[in-house]
Amino acid sequence: MSSQEMERSSTPGGRGTRPTAHELARYESLFAARTRGMKSSAMREMMALTERPDVISLAGGLPDTSTFPPELYERLMAEVSLQTARALQYGPTEGMAATAECIVQVMAAEGTAIDPADVIVTTGGQQVIDLVCKTLIDPGDVIVAEAPTYPGAVPSFSAYQAEVEQIEMDSDGMPIDALEETLDRLAAQGRRPKFIYTIPNFQNPGGVTMSLARRRRLVEVARERELLVLEDNPYGLLRYEGDPLPTLYSLDAAAVGRDSASDLVIYLGTFSKILSPGLRLGWAVAPRPVLEKLNLCKQGADLCSSPVTQMFVSAYFAEDGAWLRHVEHLRELYRARRDVMFEALAEHFGESADWTRPEGGLFIWATLDERIDTTDLLALARNTEGVAFVPGRAAYMDGRSGSSSMRLNFAGIPEAEIREGIARIGRAISQQLGLLGFLGSPPPPAAREGEAGEAAPGEPPAPDTGEGLADVVKLPRRPDSARGRRRQDR
Ligand SMILES: Cc1ncc(COP(=O)(O)O)c(C=O)c1O
Repeated sequence: MSSQEMERSSTPGGRGTRPTAHELARYESLFAARTRGMKSSAMREMMALTERPDVISLAGGLPDTSTFPPELYERLMAEVSLQTARALQYGPTEGMAATAECIVQVMAAEGTAIDPADVIVTTGGQQVIDLVCKTLIDPGDVIVAEAPTYPGAVPSFSAYQAEVEQIEMDSDGMPIDALEETLDRLAAQGRRPKFIYTIPNFQNPGGVTMSLARRRRLVEVARERELLVLEDNPYGLLRYEGDPLPTLYSLDAAAVGRDSASDLVIYLGTFSKILSPGLRLGWAVAPRPVLEKLNLCKQGADLCSSPVTQMFVSAYFAEDGAWLRHVEHLRELYRARRDVMFEALAEHFGESADWTRPEGGLFIWATLDERIDTTDLLALARNTEGVAFVPGRAAYMDGRSGSSSMRLNFAGIPEAEIREGIARIGRAISQQLGLLGFLGSPPPPAAREGEAGEAAPGEPPAPDTGEGLADVVKLPRRPDSARGRRRQDR
């Protein structure tokens, strides 16, 4: 593809084309300075791919909306339509009271008591990230985030011209001593981050969960240094094994001796993963002074979130326990799909890769031979195999780190497609290794005898030397952890 063709590639949903560099130049002097540093989220490209029937997409953050009973959807919409004038009217910026009551129920299921007066209903959780940045970030202000971080937060952070310090996670989430070192270093420069951004449960994209000890310590550190924490928790209820852990919000509230109401944690929740992203409904629970500012910023953004979908949610929650039964159903479905992806990864990625073992959520983070760049691999995989994933670079602000990793969604598509999608990526890896001329490197199993790989049919399986490819670890590890532990040991 020529660079012009690349630029002309289609936008989300396949509608329209991207402007060329020449077309952009005409408007250049009009654009605000902040747009210069803005990067397109990998999500934008990925959403376009989900529209293409020939591509198996393991890329998006999509839940499986086909699981919602159509007859229930129809009935709830009919109920909403009986209140036409209200549904079609503007609503309060902070959200409808009935929606806040539903949010109280979801938070209770997360083991977190809140006061509905501390809630603002938003247009998806994504809007919380945007509003928090709008409220707190001046150009050059520091945000501390995990590495890798949620790819969808990257364009928000860059739009507000934040400087983001990313802290490499290990299998227990963000190491708090590394956080403290970063905070000390910043303090020595006279800088104090505006907030610490974390996704403690089944992190997107890393798939790891912050341990209880680290949660407690993070809250202590925030309290010692008077720092705000943005706790992004879309997946907490989608736990497939292990015991639920308390939210940072509840730990902070307990630290102040309150039943509810943290004073340093801003909590982000969403209906997207437990019900539907199409509703575009999320929320923040925040200390009142912050809530006030979020509300002002939301007024400037969209006045209010859709009353139609807020009323849909209220009607849904009025169905005795239906929402919890649906979440339980999703848990079973996604657990099985996750396990299928584990099997497929073991079969098709083999010793050339390692990956996280999430206890919940939607994503596995796989790391390949460090010589493979997953951005290049994506182009190859899409064009020759018809399969997509999120390349690791999308989860790093510098756009360079994470280059041999990828995020894989196991929740959005049926088991057979998961198997096929992973097999296709396995073939693309073989091709990529072939293209790069890695002679002497052990080929992944897809390239081995008797399997449907394109590379080297008939070649004997490579011996496991315990070096090179086999040394790849699942997430960047700290020196004190068991570096290089193999997948079967975990
Ligand atoms: C960590 C995280 N935060 C926020 C969001 C935003 O979700 P939504 O705007 O659909 O609520 C997502 C979506 O994938 C996410 O994974």
